[in-house]
Amino acid sequence: MLSIFLYVCLGAFSGVRGYFSEEKQPQESTIQKPTVVLAIIARNAAHSLPYYLGAIERLDYPKDRISVWAATDHNIDNTTAVLREWLTVMQIYYHNVEWRPMDQPTSYPGEMGPKHWTNGRYEYLMKLKQAALNYAKRQWADYIMYVDTDNILMNPQTLSLMIAENKSVVAPMLDSQTAYSNYWCGITPQGYYRRTAEYFPTKHRHRRGCYPVPMVHSTFLLDLRKEGVKKLAFHPPHPDYSWPFDDIIAFAFSCRVSGVQMYLCNKQRYGYLNVPAKPHQTNEDDQGNFVHLQLEAMIDGPPMYPSKHVFLPPRHPDKMGLDEVYLINLRRRPDRRDRMVRTLYEQDIDVKVMDAVDGGALNSSDIKQLGVDLLPGYYDPFSGRTLTKGEVGCFLSHYNIWKEMVDLQLERAVVFEDDVRFQGNFKKRLLRLMEEIDLVELDWDLIYLGRKQVNPTQEQPVENVRNLVEAGYSYWTLSYVISLQGATKLINAEPLSKMVPIDEFLPLMYDKHPNEKYKQHFLNRNLQVFSAHPLLVFPCHYAGDPEWVSDTETSTLWDDDSVQTDWRGSHKTLKGSSSSAGLQSPISRDEL
Ligand SMILES: *[C@@H]1O[C@H](CO)[C@@H](O)[C@H](O)[C@H]1NC(C)=O
Ligand SMILES: *[C@@H]1O[C@H](CO)[C@@H](O)[C@H](O)[C@H]1NC(C)=O
Ligand SMILES: *[C@@H]1O[C@H](CO)[C@@H](O)[C@H](O)[C@H]1NC(C)=O
Repeated sequence: MLSIFLYVCLGAFSGVRGYFSEEKQPQESTIQKPTVVLAIIARNAAHSLPYYLGAIERLDYPKDRISVWAATDHNIDNTTAVLREWLTVMQIYYHNVEWRPMDQPTSYPGEMGPKHWTNGRYEYLMKLKQAALNYAKRQWADYIMYVDTDNILMNPQTLSLMIAENKSVVAPMLDSQTAYSNYWCGITPQGYYRRTAEYFPTKHRHRRGCYPVPMVHSTFLLDLRKEGVKKLAFHPPHPDYSWPFDDIIAFAFSCRVSGVQMYLCNKQRYGYLNVPAKPHQTNEDDQGNFVHLQLEAMIDGPPMYPSKHVFLPPRHPDKMGLDEVYLINLRRRPDRRDRMVRTLYEQDIDVKVMDAVDGGALNSSDIKQLGVDLLPGYYDPFSGRTLTKGEVGCFLSHYNIWKEMVDLQLERAVVFEDDVRFQGNFKKRLLRLMEEIDLVELDWDLIYLGRKQVNPTQEQPVENVRNLVEAGYSYWTLSYVISLQGATKLINAEPLSKMVPIDEFLPLMYDKHPNEKYKQHFLNRNLQVFSAHPLLVFPCHYAGDPEWVSDTETSTLWDDDSVQTDWRGSHKTLKGSSSSAGLQSPISRDEL
């Protein structure tokens, strides 16, 4: 019966072929992409999940060649609901979805909070990772990729790039807001983290490539077609296992005893990983770290976009108890405005954008019209030049804010320039600082949040207020809180008719300026100025960084429209040793 059928078919086909033979033969079609299982293991990750899933769904790889294996357990937050919502929408696009939620209980026995890792918790995680691996093997998948839920794969090519490396175990190096990353370059004979000379050159991409390392974790790809990979296991640990009971170390050990080399690639930027909160910290600290990671990522890259398929809790930005939050932005720098507005929004801060006065567009007659005149005898201490148009524009921009405060009788405002980055938990720290200032009824006019301390002398701390000092001679006006009383004093000094750069004017007004001649032009030098210590705001880029473009110091001289000047590299903007302190603190997983 079957043979008759075949005969008929073949006969019919040869007839058809004759018909087609004069035409061009169709090309052999291309081979489909290898099949991949994506393993998602989520716990108390509601804050990062929308961004994590957004990045996953944007991976440039055919979804019908990907199966998703997703598990969640022991949550005290909304993780299960968010993941379920996403899978419900997305399952039609993926080849297959395996979903293993576990709602109860919400913690492990003996666990002292969501950041506490008991042996029971490690073991459960190992079992989950093993279950994902078993699922991938049963499906005869070519690859399995594990991606932790606080790893945001910003680069949509990450999966394809890792596959192209053709390694048994390979990880894309992920960036973070600290020295922490998803690899070790060294391991002790007992299985602990070992510091090595290669770690930082790799982290900073001073060397680029794919390197054999003893440990990768968090995000990595296994090539299940390779013989050696068949022996790898997360659970149960190898019979000879004597290293710390930890899922990542157990897997690194499994690779070692199976003769499988782990590789780390840092050729490109692939994405970010959040620094996990320390064991004594809470889920809220994790969330704070994650917001900081988002802000840091935006400094030289695109923002993290959440998935459109999950619910995002509504935001409630506010003015932090102040009357206004000002952002000074040049209209011709919309890139900076967008970044700052988004950065503030991510911190739930509501901002008013003030168009900066564009010094470059002012000609000398405009400047006269505004009543601007140079302070007699003013020269820049480093270059010997007089004011630039950019400095005039910058001064006028700050001045306009003080004027608006006086006109509207605003008691307190905070001012940001548009090329700043924030200390972690900025809003919380500022709220606490202002609360303590109010408690001691401090009389203040201006509080620097970001500046450059000129002399590295000890400044007097303010009693009963943590993190506040009396400000000495300072440069920059990156950010400050100002009171109505302060704004009034600054306006009353009539600074436009005897202009100096704004960061020379302020120290004159609080009488910490070293130049006796300039002082004579300002009689009431009684501004009461303090500074956050440590600082809460820093410049995004320092003079000399490749990305550094200052709108004030590279513009032309103010009183000569024909001269082009370029003050890039002025000493005033050179990176200060104290200014970036606190931003970087090396952490590796074993030190947490
Ligand atoms: C939890 O997530 C679900 C679905 O994503 C959403 O409908 C719900 O409002 C969320 N609940 C909270 C408290 O965020
Ligand atoms: C990938 O690596 C295997 C060895 O594991 C080798 O046999 C194979 O030729 C490599 N494939 C490519 C495309 O380089
Ligand atoms: C200066 O610019 C203004 C417009 O901002 C223009 O009206 C004026 O003619 C210019 N003056 C000179 C001398 O170029």
